[in-house]
Amino acid sequence: MKVAVLPGDGIGPEVTHEAVRVIEALALGIELKHAPVGGAAYKAYGHPLPPETLEIARASDGVLFGAVGDPDCDSLDRHLRPEQAILGLRKELTLFANLRPAKVFKGLEDHSALRPEVASAIDLLIVRELNGDVYFGEKGFRTTPNGEREGYDIMSYATSEVRRIAHVAFRAAQGRGQRLCSVDKANVLETSQLWRDVVIEVAKEYPDVALSHMYVDNAAMQLVRNPGQFDVVVTGNLFGDILSDQASMCVGSIGMLASASLGERTTAHGTFGLYEPIHGSAPDIAGKGFANPMATILSAAMLLRHSLGQADAADRVEAAVGKALEDGVLGRDLGGSAGTTEIGDAVLERL
Ligand code: IPM
Ligand code: MG
Repeated sequence: MKVAVLPGDGIGPEVTHEAVRVIEALALGIELKHAPVGGAAYKAYGHPLPPETLEIARASDGVLFGAVGDPDCDSLDRHLRPEQAILGLRKELTLFANLRPAKVFKGLEDHSALRPEVASAIDLLIVRELNGDVYFGEKGFRTTPNGEREGYDIMSYATSEVRRIAHVAFRAAQGRGQRLCSVDKANVLETSQLWRDVVIEVAKEYPDVALSHMYVDNAAMQLVRNPGQFDVVVTGNLFGDILSDQASMCVGSIGMLASASLGERTTAHGTFGLYEPIHGSAPDIAGKGFANPMATILSAAMLLRHSLGQADAADRVEAAVGKALEDGVLGRDLGGSAGTTEIGDAVLERL
């Protein structure tokens, strides 16, 4: 089993280090290969996603990714910015399905931005499309007829792109509560009209799943009003980016949410994928030793489950994190005082 470890920028290396300790403690004979990405790679090699890093990722069974983003790089040309590393990996490796589960951990009900009785009902999965939408359309700057500078980003979805993510979402719903809510903005956008048409078409193959549709503005509202109504949510790249950050605060902290980005390629042990916490590089707290590594440790658990076929080990890691939380091992993001290493130690002890 080969895992590529791409720590990246800011708190990325700190939180990834703890997840690597967890993987090593399992002693499953997993071969780990580290490679630079993001601003760190730009500074050392002149590119946020060096070809060697892409090759190491491609040659692995799964990628453990920290975070990218570095304020030093904010004025670089867009193609050289750290964020291009994650976008490039998703695109180059055809990782089109991003699974972002959100569930309240026992004992964290009081840490949600929502009332505990509302928060405790949350158990949802956001299936976010990752290879298309306004993220990857033509973009640039141009001059309007009256001489004004204008920025533009084209939003589009091809039928095949919607179809493949819809299948992932319907299958996910079959394995959960058999309910799928497709989120779009079909009252305004043609991209969304096509999205909705295709999802309805694909639904015919899944008569056991109850499909509903919701406009994204309403979805944002429902996610705080009554998040317990959602089982699986499927949506495009941009809406999924926004709604998944929102969902994270509904369950307690963005420091707790893991994610898996999957494609169609299978490995000897499962599906090839990239695993990352949904939070960013948090440059403001980088190097201070109090970033919460739990989202990355939970991402490592998803890697074990989906790409390495190690479901038992994944269960054990998730249980160890749950136990640490129940025992009151809370990072500052959850109002506690446990530091990065301390949280890693606590998880390892329980493992
Ligand atoms: C995420 C992040 C990325 C995204 C950024 C870092 C490009 O916000 O994974 O949610 O927008 O997809
Ligand atoms: Mg995001």
